[in-house]
Amino acid sequence: MDRIRIVGGQRLSGTIPISGAKNATLPLMIASLLTEETLTLDNVPRLADVVLLQRILGNHGVDIMVSGKRSGMTADHGQTLHISAANIVDTTAPYELVSKMRASFWVIAPLVARMGQARVSMPGGCAIGTRPVDLLIMAIERLGAKIDIDGGYVVAQAPKGLKGAEIAFPKVTVGGTHTAMMAATLADGTTVIENAAREPEIADVADCLNKMGARISGAGTSRIVVEGVAKLNGARHAVLPDRIETGTYAMAVAMAGGDIFLQNARPELLQAALDVLVETGATVAPTNRGIRVARNGAGLAPVDVTTAPFPAFPTDLQAQLMALMTRAHGTSRITETVFENRFMHVQELARLGARIQLEGERATIEGVERLKGAQVMATDLRASVSLVIAALAAEGETIVNRVYHLDRGFERLEEKLARCGAAIERLSG
Ligand code: EPZ
Repeated sequence: MDRIRIVGGQRLSGTIPISGAKNATLPLMIASLLTEETLTLDNVPRLADVVLLQRILGNHGVDIMVSGKRSGMTADHGQTLHISAANIVDTTAPYELVSKMRASFWVIAPLVARMGQARVSMPGGCAIGTRPVDLLIMAIERLGAKIDIDGGYVVAQAPKGLKGAEIAFPKVTVGGTHTAMMAATLADGTTVIENAAREPEIADVADCLNKMGARISGAGTSRIVVEGVAKLNGARHAVLPDRIETGTYAMAVAMAGGDIFLQNARPELLQAALDVLVETGATVAPTNRGIRVARNGAGLAPVDVTTAPFPAFPTDLQAQLMALMTRAHGTSRITETVFENRFMHVQELARLGARIQLEGERATIEGVERLKGAQVMATDLRASVSLVIAALAAEGETIVNRVYHLDRGFERLEEKLARCGAAIERLSG
């Protein structure tokens, strides 16, 4: 199993190209199931989750062609996928695949909307929380699908098609909003989604669906209206930049010190996180091609942050911020309100010498003078990168084990950091 070796203490300087967003790419690829024509996606990141989803879609009969390299293109350019779901031969998403990646459960929406039936395995447990799918099921049931739970599978049937309806989510759910929005595009009549998630990835998917002929308005707000249409056509869409990757590298330079340019990054996608970074003492300078982030000299100031749905501080940057605050001058408090068990990184950061107290959904971080390198274990995607951030400032060598977690959501992380001067390398096998 691959590991990553980091020797801390190097300042960072240079340019990091930000890839397309994982959390937009996955629902966009799933949206291809809504049409028999070809959906072409540009700026697709090279991630383990994308490869796995290609396999899951292939299982339904979807053909995916990856464009070859064009002259002048480097690994910094995203890839282009040509996705054709002309012939859906199987409407079952098996446990072996869905259990590997929760987001694949979302295939239930386009399958029941277009094919009138779907049999999708329940995703099962997750390191960061129970993560039920009751609200996703509620959404397609509201649209008229008959739902049965059979042997760990959700069986959804709507032989006469779905019907527009009012869907009011009791809590904000990204997956629920994607599911409701996708299914409603082919429903008969109007659907109104209340208390919808406002994450930028929702608006990116709605933008693509509208290019495919859907009639969606209000995406990005908490009230989305979808006028159902008879069928959708093919389209071409570029995935928006990854705001979580952007925030992660911004925190890395704040931790290590230095000055980097995050190419393709868009500040409005993570303003709350950038505001917190400025509070810690980093400088953030957006340009029309990206964002420059620097921290020189001045130490890190402590902060008090609560995670919540967009536009608040994202839960997917909570672990990275915690790593940063382990070296702040003073006491920080981080409250995690989205997932009930998203502190798996705390014990691993403590192995590097961090001082963190946990009390329910709140973590209190006592800043320390120095961290010291050690062997640590990755437990989930975002927790693993928080260990990398801490290691960049720790004295000596750190070995991060189980980096397959990282590969799920960060494209060429060690290459991008090494290019900016970090002493980081992958140890294979
Ligand atoms: C999406 O997960 C993201 N995943 C997550 O990113 C992200 O952390 C999360 O949204 C919140 O921003 C993808 O986009 C692939 P939710 P999702 O439904 O849709 C509860 C990463 O690191 N809930 O918004 O699964 C749920 O348990 C990943 O890239 C129900 O109770 O998140 C959680 O407490 C991790 N019932 C809360 O709602 C439901 O039916 C928010 O979950 C659905 C959700």
